[in-house]
Amino acid sequence: MVLDAGGQYCHLIARKVRDLGVYAEVRPSETPAPAIAFAKGIIISGGPSSVYDPGSPTVDAAIFAHGQAVLGICYGQQLMAHLLGGQVRKGEKGEYGLATLELDETSDPLFAGLGGRQQIWMSHRDVVGVLPEGFSTAGRTETCAIAAIAAPQRKLYGLQFHPEVVHTARGQEYLANFLFRVCDCRKDWNPRHRVPMLEREIRECVGDRNVFFFVSGGVDSSVAFTLATRALGHGRVRGVYVDTGLMREGETEFVGRMAGLAVEHAAEQFLGALAGVTDPEEKRHIIGEEFVRVQERVIQSRSLMDEHWILGQGTIYPDTIESGGAEKAAVIKTHHNRVAGIQALIQSGRIVEPLKFFYKDEVREIGRELGLAAELLDRHPFPGPGLAIRCLCSESDAPVRATPDGIVIPVHSVGVQGDSRSYAPVLAIDTLDHARTTALINRVSGVNRVVASVETLVPIAEMRVRACSLSPERIARLRRADAIVRRLSHESDYDRRIWQFPVILIPLGTEEAPDSIVLRPVDSVDGMTAQSVAMEEDLLRKMCAEVLAVDGIAGVFYDLTHKPPGTIEWE
Ligand code: XMP
Repeated sequence: MVLDAGGQYCHLIARKVRDLGVYAEVRPSETPAPAIAFAKGIIISGGPSSVYDPGSPTVDAAIFAHGQAVLGICYGQQLMAHLLGGQVRKGEKGEYGLATLELDETSDPLFAGLGGRQQIWMSHRDVVGVLPEGFSTAGRTETCAIAAIAAPQRKLYGLQFHPEVVHTARGQEYLANFLFRVCDCRKDWNPRHRVPMLEREIRECVGDRNVFFFVSGGVDSSVAFTLATRALGHGRVRGVYVDTGLMREGETEFVGRMAGLAVEHAAEQFLGALAGVTDPEEKRHIIGEEFVRVQERVIQSRSLMDEHWILGQGTIYPDTIESGGAEKAAVIKTHHNRVAGIQALIQSGRIVEPLKFFYKDEVREIGRELGLAAELLDRHPFPGPGLAIRCLCSESDAPVRATPDGIVIPVHSVGVQGDSRSYAPVLAIDTLDHARTTALINRVSGVNRVVASVETLVPIAEMRVRACSLSPERIARLRRADAIVRRLSHESDYDRRIWQFPVILIPLGTEEAPDSIVLRPVDSVDGMTAQSVAMEEDLLRKMCAEVLAVDGIAGVFYDLTHKPPGTIEWE
């Protein structure tokens, strides 16, 4: 049983446990102990709060008293220590990203075979300062003296780091030890039960109604559409693709060809509603609301409004969690399919989202089980709001600012630090030095991303950010640069080696060339955390040369920021 204390990775913990062949589910952290007494073990998730915050998530302390195995992760460790009489204190500067754990050689079942130095992943500010009675410290990092704790006789354990994310090198082994050595679980959950389970859920949710999908051409909506078609039969499922005018080059043709769906042309409507808008959250809301309008128009014009039809969506778990959809998680950014209009449909029960508890890689696996083509399943994710959220705007003109660490560019991009949202300027440095980035972000206050300047037409100090919004001209500029990057990364096979490659347009430049391009190749498994990745020098130079030849582009930058503290997208 995973108790949700509001962490971004709460459902990921349950999913990783299921991956190990043990069924797991998530419940609110305050669930009374008797209601979860049947569970073989309990994991308390991380979360954005401090245990001393008024109203911060807690658990029923009775779970610690009856010999049930409990593992606290991050905030979960702090909460366990706090409730059992230890002390939590504010960390000096927090710790975000990769760190090295020194784990004692011990025979405690959780740590068996894991002793020694190893890479772990941290995202926290507070730390356990004083252990509760009966606990001992099993591991530490340079900045966190109590990074792993244990009271083995009582089967109580805590980890300050996150074993559930891929960047903790031996994370799965900690979870496996907890399941099989501490909780004594059996391996009896088979992920292949998913497809029939999902089909059953769709049939139950839809009843005798029909489902109408808006298919984006991405993996998620295509898999959801196919699942629904399998569950309900062709006659009861329909799909339409909306051309928002915010799509990449050639996209409408690709989707139309592949799925044979009806295409609804709505570019003028979207671009008209976005004219003059600069605020990222406002953009997302406008796009979400326009989607709802188009959806309503389509539904009305095709008589799909009556009670016989409901809406199907390919929403996946990160869309829900990062929009504050889980009970205590902070809103990182509002995803387009969680805006008011859609919420109204959800509340009236006229929606089916079969993939809402799954991560991208699981959705791809489900797609393969359904026999969908690799050409579709291996596509990089592309966000619903399209190029709009990769085309940064600015309310006003602003100069760049030189600092001893680099040049601060006054565009604001969203990030996630310590499980909550940050929105800050960007630091430009002049070398492609990934190693320096995490340290710079932890040290330099007020920035949440570091980019390397790869090539610029004039020195950055002579550039400025200028007031601008989402004009068709800027979107076309971004679309051209994006098409170049996509073509070159496909030809060199680079795209197969990375998870996603956003190309961002920022309003930094000169009179003649007012914008710059940021390259953001990342590797990830599930989109929840990501590593900025390197690229061959040759390919980068080729990309730079072609992108700089696009009219209006003054520079090419390379985003070095991992997630966290950055997000993959810039808005
Ligand atoms: P972030 O930027 O949150 O992105 O690190 C994680 C993954 O989600 C995608 N993304 C979106 N997908 N609608 C979507 O369908 C959205 O509004 C949205 N915002 C981000 C992003 O491309 C990445 O794969």
